[in-house]
Amino acid sequence: MTQTNDLPAAIVCGGSTGLGTAIVARLIHLGYRVTVLGRDIDRLNSLRDSMMDQGVDGSLIHVFAADATSTSDLQSAVASHLQVHHRLDVLVNVVGRSDRGTIESLDAATVHDLIDANVISTLNCSQACLPALKESRGVIVNIGTLAAHVCPRYLGGYAIAKHALRALTRQMRLECEADGVHVGLVSPGPIRSESRPAGNRYDVDHQTGVPQTAAGPGGGAKVKLLEADDVANAVVRCITHRQIEIILPSKTRLLMAIDAVSPKLADWILSRKTAK
Ligand SMILES: NC(=O)c1ccc[n+]([C@@H]2O[C@H](COP(=O)([O-])OP(=O)(O)OC[C@H]3O[C@@H](n4cnc5c(N)ncnc54)[C@H](OP(=O)(O)O)[C@@H]3O)[C@@H](O)[C@H]2O)c1
Repeated sequence: MTQTNDLPAAIVCGGSTGLGTAIVARLIHLGYRVTVLGRDIDRLNSLRDSMMDQGVDGSLIHVFAADATSTSDLQSAVASHLQVHHRLDVLVNVVGRSDRGTIESLDAATVHDLIDANVISTLNCSQACLPALKESRGVIVNIGTLAAHVCPRYLGGYAIAKHALRALTRQMRLECEADGVHVGLVSPGPIRSESRPAGNRYDVDHQTGVPQTAAGPGGGAKVKLLEADDVANAVVRCITHRQIEIILPSKTRLLMAIDAVSPKLADWILSRKTAK
């Protein structure tokens, strides 16, 4: 008989809403024990309650309030995870935040905030988890975005931060390989959200020359919205197949290939397919 402590265990940093919640649900469905991190304990508890209402065994889901920009919060979070679940096989770094605006009006404080939210959170959480992940020869999955690969207009400092996250992921992957820890990146395009349409998240300041269409998902990119469950499945593929980079929708890879050989053509395509 499988003992609970034999089941694999994961931390999802930023799992209390949105994409993170879909990843938590998918991992639990696959037999993982999960610790969910976020800053708001009420949000975390209501996620745990709603999963238990849906029949999830409460011992499979542990929640812990931690700010991923605080190294001490994360040390406590990992200690709490290990106390409850005893091992760590997978870390999914979901914390991240988008932006809207022009480069001309982008201020340094906003860039610092976005780097904290998208990059430092992932760096901190990965460093806190690495000792336990080395023991299990586990996996880290970071959540990027199409803007980690291409740079459409009007995303303020988001593409800058997510490009840095991609660099962090690539360097970490090579450095962690020797210890048997795999580090992958899943980069989705805009994701459908019933509770909080992405279009409502941003105040577009017309004074700065940002068009209203840029407020929409993906900064107004003309791509079909993804389902969070499909992105969660890609995260699982990244874990089980130790995939290096998954980009969704996969056809957008073509643009990245074009960009490598003809940046001028890629700019032209990007200009036509994103907000203007
Ligand atoms: N939504 C999209 O269309 C889309 C598309 C491509 C990529 N992405 C990427 O996917 C990821 C998730 O996006 P989402 O839209 O699902 O985000 P979301 O709904 O805003 O959820 C973010 C999660 O992270 C937590 N969080 C935020 N800051 C935190 C911090 N400093 N420390 C700990 N937890 C923190 C939030 O909980 P608390 O607020 O309680 O802390 C929440 O659980 C992001 O990296 C985003 O860039 C999203």
